[in-house]
Amino acid sequence: MDKVVEYINSNNRKYIGELKDFLRIPSISTKDSHKKDMLRGAKFVSDKLKAAGMKKVKIIKTKRHPLVYAEWLGAPGKPTVLIYGHYDVQPVDPIELWNSPPFEPTIKNGKIYARGATDDKGQMYMHIKSVEAYMKTIGKLPLNVKFIIEGEEEIGSSSLEEFVSKNIKLLKCDTVLISDTALYSKGIPTITYGLRGLAYMEVEVTGPKRDLHSGTFGGAVANPINILAWMIVEMTDKNGKIKIPGFYDDVLKLTKKERENFKALKFSEKQFAKEIGVKELKGEKGYTALERIWARPTLDCNGIIGGFTGKGAKTVLPSKAIAKISMRLVPNQDPKKIARLFKKYVKEIAPKSVAVKVTDLHGGYPLVTPLNDKSTIAASRAMQRAFGKKTIFMREGGSIPIVTTFAEKLKAPPVLMGLGLNSENLHSPNEHFDLNHFHLGIVSSAYFFEEFAK
Ligand code: BES
Ligand code: MN
Ligand code: MN
Repeated sequence: MDKVVEYINSNNRKYIGELKDFLRIPSISTKDSHKKDMLRGAKFVSDKLKAAGMKKVKIIKTKRHPLVYAEWLGAPGKPTVLIYGHYDVQPVDPIELWNSPPFEPTIKNGKIYARGATDDKGQMYMHIKSVEAYMKTIGKLPLNVKFIIEGEEEIGSSSLEEFVSKNIKLLKCDTVLISDTALYSKGIPTITYGLRGLAYMEVEVTGPKRDLHSGTFGGAVANPINILAWMIVEMTDKNGKIKIPGFYDDVLKLTKKERENFKALKFSEKQFAKEIGVKELKGEKGYTALERIWARPTLDCNGIIGGFTGKGAKTVLPSKAIAKISMRLVPNQDPKKIARLFKKYVKEIAPKSVAVKVTDLHGGYPLVTPLNDKSTIAASRAMQRAFGKKTIFMREGGSIPIVTTFAEKLKAPPVLMGLGLNSENLHSPNEHFDLNHFHLGIVSSAYFFEEFAK
C-alpha cells in the first residue's frame, strides 16, 4: 500500500496535467452544438481507463451522449465496486463573469479553475488515477472494479437509466462509489448519506392570441406574466410552507437524533449568509438552514420568460409567459406523485382568463443511505486515513437522480465520497476544484479499495 500512495504522491504533477487536458474539452451536454465535444469527452475517459490498466473498455453509443464502461475483474472471491461519475458539464453563461476562460484551465492559489473542475471531471478522474497507481506499482487491484461514466447527468441521465435497466448483470456489484458531492468544509473528510430528489416543471401561461398594445388593451385583458407571477406566489405561504395539497403527505419527519447530529456540526448561518452575500437567510419556519437544505422539501422558480426584456422600454402586453419551477424532494416523496399534485394545483388556481399548460421536465427520487453499511464504513475509514482526521456524515441538498436507480436495480448501496466544496462555484462562473482535495481524493480512493476488499 505504501508503494501505491508513494506513486500517487510523486505523480501529482502529471495527474494535474492530465486533468487540465480533460477540462479543455467543452463537453456541455445540454447543447447540441457540443455533440462532437461529448464524444471527445467519452474518448478521453476511455483512453485514460485503458492506460490505467482497465479491461474491456468500451464507449457505448446511446440516443444522446455516449457512456463509458470498463472493468477489471482479476480478484475472484473479492467484492466488486462500481464507480460512477459524469464527464458532461453545465453551460458556461454568463461568460463575462469568468476571470479566466472556462475551458482554459488555470491554476491559482492551489485551485484549478475551469467548467467541470469540481462537477464532476476532477472528482471522477481521481478514481481512474487510483486504479493506475495500483496497476503501475503492485500490478493488480485488491478487489474487482467496474466503471460506468455518463455524459447526461446534467440533463437527467435518461440514457443511463435505460442502460442500467437492460444491463443489470453487467453492472452487478457490491457497492456503487461516487465522488460528485462536497466535503462539509475544507479539509474535513465527509461522507454524504442523503440527497434530495427533484421534480422539475414548466408552466406556460397563454393569454391573448398575440402581443397587445398595453395602453389600448391593458386593464381589460389578463397579463400572462402578472398571472404567472401571482401563481408562483400562491405556491407558498408566509411561513415558507408549500401550499400544494398533499405535498407533505409522504415527508419523513426529522428525528430528534438527526436534528442533534446536524446541530453538532456547529454550522454558522451568519457566515453562510455572508459568503453568499445576503443580509439574512430565509426559509421554512421552524427549521435551521441545514435542516431546510438537507431534509426539507422546497419549491423554487428557476427562470421566467416573457414579454419585453431588451434595453429600454416597450409598452406591450405579452401573449405568453413561461416559468421553470423545481421542487427539491426528501424521503419518501415520489417525484411522479408530486408532479401530478403540482399540475392539479396549478390548474385549480389558474383564472379562466388564461390557458395554462404544465409540463413535467424531469425528476429524481430522494435518497438516504444506511450509515452502518460495509461500504460506508470502508469509505469513512479510507477518508480518515487519507486526511488524518475523523470523518463526518452529512446530507446534501443537491440531487443525483441515477443514484436511486443504482440502489434499486443493482441492489447495491451507494457511497457518496465527494471531495468538492459547495463554495467551488459549481454551475456558476469561476468553477474550481481544490488541488489538495484532488490529491487526497486519489489517496482516499486507493484506501477505499483496500478497506472494502477486507
Ligand atoms: N453533482 C451535482 C449534485 C450535487 C451538487 C451534489 C452539490 C452534492 C453537492 C450534480 O451534477 C447536479 O448538478 N445535479 C443536478 C441534478 C439535476 C440536473 C437532475 C441538481 O442537483 O440540480
Ligand atoms: Mn455532478
Ligand atoms: Mn451538476
